[in-house]
Amino acid sequence: MRLSVNVDHVATIRQARMAGEPDPVWAAVEAELAGACGITIHLRGDRRHIQDRDLKLLKETVAGVLNLEMSTSDEMLDIARDVRPQMCTLVPEGEGELTTQGGLDIISEEESVRKAVSVLKKSGIMVSIFIDPDVVQVGRAKAVGADIVELHTGIYAEATDPDEIEREFQKVRVAAIAAQEMGLKAHGGHGLTYLNIGPIAAIQEIDELSIGHSIVSRAVLVGMDGAVAEMISLIEGA
Ligand code: PXP
Repeated sequence: MRLSVNVDHVATIRQARMAGEPDPVWAAVEAELAGACGITIHLRGDRRHIQDRDLKLLKETVAGVLNLEMSTSDEMLDIARDVRPQMCTLVPEGEGELTTQGGLDIISEEESVRKAVSVLKKSGIMVSIFIDPDVVQVGRAKAVGADIVELHTGIYAEATDPDEIEREFQKVRVAAIAAQEMGLKAHGGHGLTYLNIGPIAAIQEIDELSIGHSIVSRAVLVGMDGAVAEMISLIEGA
């Protein structure tokens, strides 16, 4: 199982002062040197953290896979076509939300998702869709032509009651198995921390995890190298 480090919140600190530091490009170099297989960023319509400049520089500097999280808007499709990151993850984007709220509902958004997948694939970009861990959504992701589903682990991560944790964990596991059976790669992400990563990292059908907030939070105190290495050792230990 591989780790893609999301460096959005390095940019959040920078944007708090509209300054030049800390630079998510530097953070990405450190994360890859510490063993990350790639870097994830979310270019939001409101540019609240990652900027267009970051995307362009990261395209030139990331050694592994650069994964661009984006909405299905025409603006984002034009940017992806222009910059051509290796991978794009389609996510829902709500105005004013603190972070992505749940997976993309491919059933109600089918037309725009299908169009986005087609545009991105024509540009040679691998396409992932961030969905709730639900077998029906996995099937719709396959139907619209995605290569990968990223399963939303946020509900699992936020659960506190042991029965609820187990229930939410099983949803992720079952959806990952279904994805593999349908010929899709399964990734996972959202809300994962050093404390809750274990069971998710033990799901054999999940190839990759995308983790941001927890790693950047620790990196502020111990450095990116130590924060990434510790997460990788927990993933490998699972
Ligand atoms: N995956 C997706 C699709 C996301 O939107 C995010 C948050 O940007 C993450 C993973 C990472 O979540 P977290 O920052 O909670 O680790």
